Amino acid sequence: MREQIMPPLKWAGGKRWLVPTLREIYVSVESTRLVEPFVGGMAITLGLKPKTALLNDANPHIINFFMELKKGFVFTLNYGNKKEEFYLAREEFNDLIKENQIFGNHAAQLFYYLIRTGYNGLCRFNKSGLFNVPFGQFKKIDYQKSLQAYSSYLNDWQFTHGDFSNIETNAQDFIYMDPPYDVPFTQYHTLGYSWQDQLRLLEWVEDKPNPMVISNQATGRIVSAYVDAGFHVFQIRAPRMIACNGNRTKAMEVLALKNFDEKTLKQIADTLSENG
Ligand SMILES: C[S@@+](CC[C@H](N)C(=O)[O-])C[C@H]1O[C@@H](n2cnc3c(N)ncnc32)[C@H](O)[C@@H]1O
Repeated sequence: MREQIMPPLKWAGGKRWLVPTLREIYVSVESTRLVEPFVGGMAITLGLKPKTALLNDANPHIINFFMELKKGFVFTLNYGNKKEEFYLAREEFNDLIKENQIFGNHAAQLFYYLIRTGYNGLCRFNKSGLFNVPFGQFKKIDYQKSLQAYSSYLNDWQFTHGDFSNIETNAQDFIYMDPPYDVPFTQYHTLGYSWQDQLRLLEWVEDKPNPMVISNQATGRIVSAYVDAGFHVFQIRAPRMIACNGNRTKAMEVLALKNFDEKTLKQIADTLSENG
């Protein structure tokens, strides 16, 4: 298997486990640029390592961090894995948010530190847009793990932040979309992601000729909406368990493909059935 680069940060909904399947799909088309409107922790792009990419997310902080990573990021803050230091850094970061100073190296340093040190690596904001994740109580954190190595990969990758609908795609792009799951309480950023947003994404891609893939939670309404929008829908078992039901059932997800030839669809169907 080709080398997969580990994402620099843990990110809710990260899809590293989907890389082998997406690689098979990506190499089947002759697209050069990979477009990810919901790049999150960048697990897929780092796994596929395209030459060029357009990577977007509504969360400006993760995008600012990636832009700094591209320049060659070295963690230089004097904060460590201590509760008091975490809350000081959180206050400092929230002051930057209040002053609308969320871009640049210092904001990226604080963001990286807070995500590494906060509870479960979460990135969560309150209604006023302030970061409100509590201290994580990890035993040990290695903040200095080599981050500079990422810059050579990110060189020809372009980053933007904002709503997915602002992205400009070219007809040759391969588009991989990983929107927040269709669940009632998705809150990755200040603004939630509603059912209307799930449908708005389908409208945005409706007339695009590009080979495209969407992944999502396999709820009944998602499966119907994707089929109605002309996608070929595969249902796959995710490595994560359904939360709160106690019986360790694996969650079902959809992998929806559009604008692929029959041969590729058959090949993907075979691979997915081999993997159970
Ligand atoms: C499931 S996560 C993506 C995870 C990513 N595939 C990975 O492997 O790390 C969904 C992402 O969508 C972003 N998001 C939410 N609403 C959005 C919007 N309207 N436009 C663009 N991105 C949005 C969130 O900030 C979050 O990072």
